[in-house]
Amino acid sequence: MKGGVGKTTIATLLCRHLARTHKVLAIDLDPQANMSQALMGEAGYRRFMDDESPSVVEVFKGYQPPRSAASPTPLDPADVARTIPGRGEKLRIIPSRFDFSDNLCEATRTDDQALARFIADGFDDIDIVLIDCAPTESVLTRAAYHASRYVLVPVRPEYFATIGFPLLHRSLEGFRKQNPGHELDVLGIVINDAGYKGGNDGGPEKAQAMTDIRGEAAKHSWRIFSKQLPYSRGFPKMMRGNYSRLGNARRSFYALERELRRTLSEEGYLL
Ligand SMILES: Nc1ncnc2c1ncn2[C@@H]1O[C@H](COP(=O)(O)OP(=O)(O)OP(=O)(O)O)[C@@H](O)[C@H]1O
Ligand SMILES: [Mg+2]
Repeated sequence: MKGGVGKTTIATLLCRHLARTHKVLAIDLDPQANMSQALMGEAGYRRFMDDESPSVVEVFKGYQPPRSAASPTPLDPADVARTIPGRGEKLRIIPSRFDFSDNLCEATRTDDQALARFIADGFDDIDIVLIDCAPTESVLTRAAYHASRYVLVPVRPEYFATIGFPLLHRSLEGFRKQNPGHELDVLGIVINDAGYKGGNDGGPEKAQAMTDIRGEAAKHSWRIFSKQLPYSRGFPKMMRGNYSRLGNARRSFYALERELRRTLSEEGYLL
């Protein structure tokens, strides 16, 4: 429910890191396609676009439109969830496309359960699915909810940090009411301290924002992860697979990753 807080950075890094030990499926639900570009590389993403390979757009349509074949054909999960060259079978991605929004966001009849149905079938081998969402609520947000057990909420401790919290709360409550059989919870809030450069502690503005975040989180019983991500230019680098000269980015991300794994296992999901 908020832009530029680190959703794509954190989702992409989690995909890369969890894929060292587990089979990960990344799903890019943002028409900006930043996660797709980061995981597939610029050249890989361009090839994917040029080849008009299936993307999330076809997942929502539910079929592969006629191209070489003379009629629509079924979607093959192995085609849609692409492996990434050089990364073996452990990390797969269902990429987004820049024209995604023209295709879907405006369409009133987009089936918000199509994604959940697609991943329910044909991905038995996958250990964890990570979905990157766009900042504004749309049918795609509901599609992500339908396909999810947990929501991870990055936030920057700055002015207006918690403006999206009541929106998220209402949105989740609305979803739960309409889907009583579906358990969907906030796994936790990740403090992404990207606003504060130069290694200072953020000063009074951060302290005030943290007070607001704690207060709002407590209202809804949302956990706040104790490991925070500092500002570091290492994160955008790591996200693109460049692990040289990362400063404190690597260490702080590993600490958060460990805490996330521990939390999931406390919730009963072993990673
Ligand atoms: N901890 C950090 N340190 C330094 N830069 C960061 C950090 N977190 C995010 N950034 C940078 O901030 C920008 C926004 O991050 P990101 O794209 O992950 O946010 P987002 O929530 O996905 O944004 P959007 O709402 O547009 O999808 C990017 O340029 C990213 O590289
Ligand atoms: Mg993003």
